[in-house]
Order: sequence, then structure tokens, then C-alpha cells
Amino acid sequence: MTRTVLPAGLRVLVVGGGGREHALAWACGRSPLVEAVHCAPGNGGTGAVATNHPVPSTDGRGLARLARELGVELAVLGPDAAVAAGVGDELVAAGIPCVGPSQAAGRVESSKAHAKACMAEAGIATADFAVFDDWPRARRHIRAQSRPLVVKADGPALGKGAFVCDDRGDALRAAEALLVEGRLGPAGRRVVVEERLEGHEVSLFALCDGERAVMLPPAADYKRRRDGDGGPMTGGMGAVTPPTCADARALNADALTAVVEPLLAVLRRGGTPYRGCLYVGAMLVRGRLQVLEFNARFGDPEAEVLLPVLPDLVPWLWQSAAGALDGGGPEPTGATAVGVVIADEGYPEAPRTDRPLRVPDPPPAGTLVFHMGTRRVADGGLRSTGGRILCCVGIGPDRQGARTRAYEAVRRVDAPGTSWRQDIAAGSG
Ligand code: AMP
Ligand code: GLY
Repeated sequence: MTRTVLPAGLRVLVVGGGGREHALAWACGRSPLVEAVHCAPGNGGTGAVATNHPVPSTDGRGLARLARELGVELAVLGPDAAVAAGVGDELVAAGIPCVGPSQAAGRVESSKAHAKACMAEAGIATADFAVFDDWPRARRHIRAQSRPLVVKADGPALGKGAFVCDDRGDALRAAEALLVEGRLGPAGRRVVVEERLEGHEVSLFALCDGERAVMLPPAADYKRRRDGDGGPMTGGMGAVTPPTCADARALNADALTAVVEPLLAVLRRGGTPYRGCLYVGAMLVRGRLQVLEFNARFGDPEAEVLLPVLPDLVPWLWQSAAGALDGGGPEPTGATAVGVVIADEGYPEAPRTDRPLRVPDPPPAGTLVFHMGTRRVADGGLRSTGGRILCCVGIGPDRQGARTRAYEAVRRVDAPGTSWRQDIAAGSG
């Protein structure tokens, strides 16, 4: 597979404390190349597969110190907040190879206007767009449009920054709320107004080393809170891999040549080479990929379904961090994985928190339960920490089998007051 010599007995640090980080810690812990897995800060689930350390995921200096003390040889960044806080820069400066970009390269996620500028420079297909800092110009532009629009806050907004509008009135209200009322604070002082696309949404993942990339399996994510894609936008209420709307190999081949490689070239030329997982949110419009957004990290809950259908990912993580990708990508096992997110009451608007819950241990055969928002209390029990609390993943030879298993694990969770979508992976997508 590779000419690069991989060190054995690796000590790995996973930065973050959600379901994605639980899945990453679980996957690293299964690798024969790994001697120890550490998580900072981790959660109530990661303690079973890693050693948790109470260092916040945005404290770059603290994390670099911890990594040096522990003799960490590979760090993996989970959340976008860690990337935006410059944790990758601090770790690399401390000599720790890191899967996750520098703060500057991570701007492809933290500024939507910057992402669009990169796409334009790289010739990447995306919705037509315009960028505004002031309301009168934005209003004039929106009034002149005849097609449906999406209005987006430029800056990070925890998944609440995109307003998919049905008509011009909606778009005007969204732009006014951001630019005039300051609804999302500094994140919304600049807006991107773009054409609304119709098609199948897919999440694509490339592991990059600054110059080259390998693709991981594609997935579909269920972003709305309620069944039938109703209710408010969330961080994701479920995920499935592979999606059914296109052949995974063809999709990845297209994404690599038409999106990922041109973007890497632009970022390298601009002096911000990209290392780590690049998440491409895209719409498949009549068979053609159009990019909606970039994220500078693995998806959540997509990581929870991707990692269980991959062979040992550690060699590729290591090559990505070392700037030494030199083979093809990891070959998926061919299984299907379905992840169902259990969320606390009130999510996403005002989640209740700190409620006791019980998780089946071991989980039912063919399932994994990743913790997204839990903590252990003194008596060894679990409490929710608010929002999305668990992701129950079913793995099977086909979609129906994987789905049945995932919901079997959901039923075995005892968490009063929580809810989940019933329709994850029920249809196409
Ligand atoms: P973003 O914050 O850019 O990821 O947007 C959040 C969600 O809004 C996406 O996952 C899509 O479901 C939707 N969305 C974003 N941009 C568009 C677009 N141009 N057309 C249709 N839907 C979009
Ligand atoms: N599931 C969407 C995200 O990770 O941004």
C-alpha cells in the first residue's frame, strides 16, 4: 500500500469531546500500530477507549504541553473550534504531527466568503453568489433576483448560519436579521447570498497532506430536526454510508479531480497548504457535483458511520500529518452503516441538560454507541451534557439490515425525555 515507514507503538491524542471524537478514539484504539489513545477533553464514552484529560479543545498551548508530556506522536483535531483557535498551529510548532489544518488553511470553513473566493479561483462548481457587508446593497441585489436564494452568515454559527429561503421576502428578512439586527453577532456582519440548488446532498471526505489527497467513503447526513426533513437545522440527526443517490466510487473520483485537487492547489499557492480531513458538503444536481461548503474537519455524525466501515485508518492519518500520502485511499469493507442521533429535549433551540441516562454495555451485536454529549459522574453513571447526546450506529451488509440494528440499539438506550428521528436511512439519499 505504501512506501512510507510507519512507526509502531504510536501514542495518539484526539482533540475534542463529541461523537466524532469518540469514533476517532475508538478507531485509533483498534489499530495494531497504536499503543495508547488520549482524548482532550473527551466525554463519558471516550473514557472506555482512551484516557481523558481535562484540557479544553481550544486551548492550543495547553494541548501542546499535554501532548509533549504524554509523548504523543500523532494528534487528530476534531471540532472546527479547535481549528479556528489555531490548535493545529500550536501542535505543529511543538513538533507534534497533526491531522487537522492550520488556522489559516481552516478559513475554508470559518469564512464562507473566503471559501467561495477559493472555489472561484480553483474553478470549482458552486452556486452563483454575491458577498455583502451592507444592507442597502444586499437588499438591492436580493430584490433583483428571480430565483430562490440561500442567505448565509460569513462566519461560524454552529450550523445556524444558513437560511434556505422560499421566496424573496424570506431572503430579505434573513439578510436584514444578520446585517441590521445583528442576529448572529460578528459572524453575520458579512453575508453570502447564493442561488438555491435542488438535488441530492452528499458529504464527501478527503484526507489531505498539503499536496495530495485520498478519498474516504461518502455519506449522507440528515440535517433537520424532525422526520421528513422538517423542523430547524441541526448539526445532524443521523447519517448513512454509502448514500444511494450515486455510485460511491464515481462520486469520489469526480470529487477528487473536480474539487479537492484544485482546492489544494489554490491553498498551496496561497501559502496555506491544507493538511487533515477536508469535508466537502455538496449537492448532486442532475449528476453534477456543486459545492455548498467546506468544513475543515471530519463530519459529525458522519465520522461515526465512516470509521466503522473502514480498515485501519491510522496509516493514512499518519501519512496525512506527515505530509507523506503516497498510496491509494483506504478500501472500505463494503458494509453499510447507519447512525441515529439521540438528542436531548429542546435541541437545537434550548436543550435541557444534566439528565441521567443508561447505555447498553455491551451494545447489541452489529452496533456501536458513540457518546456525543455525556459525562461520567462520581458513582460511575452517565449524565447528558445537552444537545446531541448519543449516536447509535448499526452496521450490516445492506441498508435495511444496518438500519434495523441502529434502531435496536436506540431502543436499548434508557434516556428519559430524549428523542430521535424515525426516518434515518428509510428512503433514498
Ligand atoms: P452550510 O452552512 O453552507 O453547510 O449550509 C447548511 C445547509 O443549508 C446545507 O447542508 C444545505 O442543506 C443547505 N444549503 C446550503 N447552501 C445551499 C444552496 N446553495 N442550495 C440549497 N441548499 C443549501
Ligand atoms: N454533520 C454536519 C457537520 O459535521 O458539519
